[in-house]
Amino acid sequence: MSKYLVTGGAGFIGSTLAKRLLRDGHEVIILDNLSTGKRENLPEGVAFYEVDLCDLDAIRDKFEGVDGVFHVAAMPRVPYSVEHPIESSKNNIFSTLNTFVAARDAGVKRVVYSASSSAYGGNPSLPQHTEMKPDPLSPYALQKLIGEYYGTLFADLYGLETVSLRYFNVYGPHMAEGGAYVTVMSIFKQQYLDGKPLTIYGDGEQTRSFCHVDDVVNANIKAMHSETVGKGEVVNVSGASSVSINHIAKRFNHPIQYLDPRPGDPKHSLGDITKTKELLDWEPEIDFDRGFEDLIQYWGMELS
Ligand SMILES: NC(=O)c1ccc[n+]([C@@H]2O[C@H](COP(=O)([O-])OP(=O)(O)OC[C@H]3O[C@@H](n4cnc5c(N)ncnc54)[C@H](O)[C@@H]3O)[C@@H](O)[C@H]2O)c1
Repeated sequence: MSKYLVTGGAGFIGSTLAKRLLRDGHEVIILDNLSTGKRENLPEGVAFYEVDLCDLDAIRDKFEGVDGVFHVAAMPRVPYSVEHPIESSKNNIFSTLNTFVAARDAGVKRVVYSASSSAYGGNPSLPQHTEMKPDPLSPYALQKLIGEYYGTLFADLYGLETVSLRYFNVYGPHMAEGGAYVTVMSIFKQQYLDGKPLTIYGDGEQTRSFCHVDDVVNANIKAMHSETVGKGEVVNVSGASSVSINHIAKRFNHPIQYLDPRPGDPKHSLGDITKTKELLDWEPEIDFDRGFEDLIQYWGMELS
């Protein structure tokens, strides 16, 4: 049994990860300021502290005796970051820097950092791989990228083991139903329930890589244990293939309304997971159609 600390454990991905760690018999501490997270997401049996990671003095002692940290917390709001670059930078950059400092000072062995495929931004090459030049298009994307750089720097300078996982469109139970990361699935669900047509920008043939939250959790656990990482490596956590928006819409069996394409919307997204397979022995196990069926069941919906 190990003792793990999960930042952002009241949110979508962090709470799913915390549940899995508890199920595997570990002791789990959650630090979360409940800014986007919810108390009802907290699994029973965790030690929960409602603290802000930007307050280093308030979090330091929570890292004592911890074997590994999963740094999942962030304010994942792209439009908010565009409107409030200072506030979102303060939150996302300092929460990450403080987490690395507190982990280093407490002698924690490894920090697994939740990074974002938004780092690829405007780079149109496919599939996206981590040797490509980053092209962050929002303060949020830049802040997440800075977290990766801090991870590598802390490994180099202080010997803290770190690894960054760049997630692509995570979906599954408890995902956000509003905000920047609201997936097209949640939008279609709401339109379906409201009896409105499903709206698609452009011809619907744009594709996206979706990764099921259980696969993301597996990647985190492998990243915590793999002996081939720890020096600030960055790897993609992406679905194995991408699906078109039309494909998802058709699963709802509901009228569709096509709208003008949105400027700046990338045509396709897909992460190259060759390096992730090599370094973490990880690949996604849940294909999109199965993950989608499970989600529909979880929502209690029956699609005619
Ligand atoms: N969901 C996705 O598709 C996706 C894609 C790429 C990257 N990510 C990254 O994955 C991580 C988790 O995302 P999520 O979808 O679960 O988001 P979420 O909003 O559900 O969870 C984030 C959690 O962090 C907490 N938090 C934020 N700032 C904090 C602070 N200063 N101190 C303490 N707690 C704080 C929030 O209250 C929330 O519980 C984030 O780092 C995000 O950038 C998510």
